[in-house]
Amino acid sequence: MENKPDVTLRLSADSPEDIRTAGELLRAGGLVALPTETVYGLAADALNPVAVSRIFTAKGRPSDNPLIVHIADLAELGTLCAAVPDAAVLLAARFWPGPLTLVLPRRDLVPGAVTAGLPTVAVRLPASQAARAVIQAAGTPLAAPSANRSGTPSPTTAAHVWHDLNGRVDAIVDGGPCAVGIESTILDLSGDKPRLLRPGGVTQAELEEPLGPVEVDPAVLGPLSPENAPRAPGMKYRHYAPRAPVYLLRGPSGAAAVWVRNHAQPGAAVLCFDGERALFEGVTRVSYGPENDPSSLALNLFDALRRLDRPDVTVIYARCPEGDGLYEAVRNRLGKAAGFRQVTVAGYR
Ligand code: TXA
Ligand code: MG
Repeated sequence: MENKPDVTLRLSADSPEDIRTAGELLRAGGLVALPTETVYGLAADALNPVAVSRIFTAKGRPSDNPLIVHIADLAELGTLCAAVPDAAVLLAARFWPGPLTLVLPRRDLVPGAVTAGLPTVAVRLPASQAARAVIQAAGTPLAAPSANRSGTPSPTTAAHVWHDLNGRVDAIVDGGPCAVGIESTILDLSGDKPRLLRPGGVTQAELEEPLGPVEVDPAVLGPLSPENAPRAPGMKYRHYAPRAPVYLLRGPSGAAAVWVRNHAQPGAAVLCFDGERALFEGVTRVSYGPENDPSSLALNLFDALRRLDRPDVTVIYARCPEGDGLYEAVRNRLGKAAGFRQVTVAGYR
């Protein structure tokens, strides 16, 4: 199979025959994009290093950024991981299937291409029925990063995947829009203390309830200093970003609107909350949900960023919600898109 098939097959998650086809393509070393509850993934047989290397080519992904391995059955965790601590068993029982990825010591059978040479492997058992059906049809664990071109916003619909990867992958399984909209929470359980590497659908408080305190990796909250080597290598790259520079715009709606009116040049656009559309009248704007509804913000964020990726938009001011839980994950993705650059406004002028 070539790195760039001429034709990308469209498959439906509702068709058992299409699921079988996806499984066959994957067993043969092919690349298949598939829906999960978080975002669409670009899957290959995790135990086939040649197939895995095609993922990096198709995405344009740096080879030092490791992949998450997706399983359909809890028993496979022990096949992939050299040690499964009690904390992992506890969390798997509580949050799997679901949007939680666990980083654990790897067994030798996991190719270095998947883990970027790290001694650990990231594993997740997705909630999406379609994802699990494809894993089962393939009969092997699937390595799957988000199914976007490296650096662009993650795909939450089959159309997003088609836009980025048509002609570069063998098939796309369409399962409709994703339910969560941002990627899984990543928790590293390979060290002394549990460490949050990426906030997501399972919140820090939900993890701490059974585990006790969880350390938050510095890369979650702000830019990394050069001497601070990232624990999740992907954290050092700019991510989720349209071509135009993004700035977080924090503070109350009214003050933000005044700031934009005073500072926005032609070509400026605003990613705003639903209730703010009238405030930003006259400026290109895309809203991504009500400010008080973090699930909606998570669900719509990447689609909204993609809609702002237009030639006439030269700078994007992104309204950034405050709060913890899922807000943390939304803020993290916006922060990455902005390289953590931000403007904070206070009060009206
Ligand atoms: O929700 C998700 O997790 C989606 C869907 C498709 O499952 N996948 C996803 O994959 O977001 P990706 O490649 O876009 O992000 C994987 C992240 C990267 O930041 C990578 O550095 C980190 O996981 N990662 C993978 N293996 C790791 C490891 N052994 N140690 C630390 N971080 C790891
Ligand atoms: Mg990604």
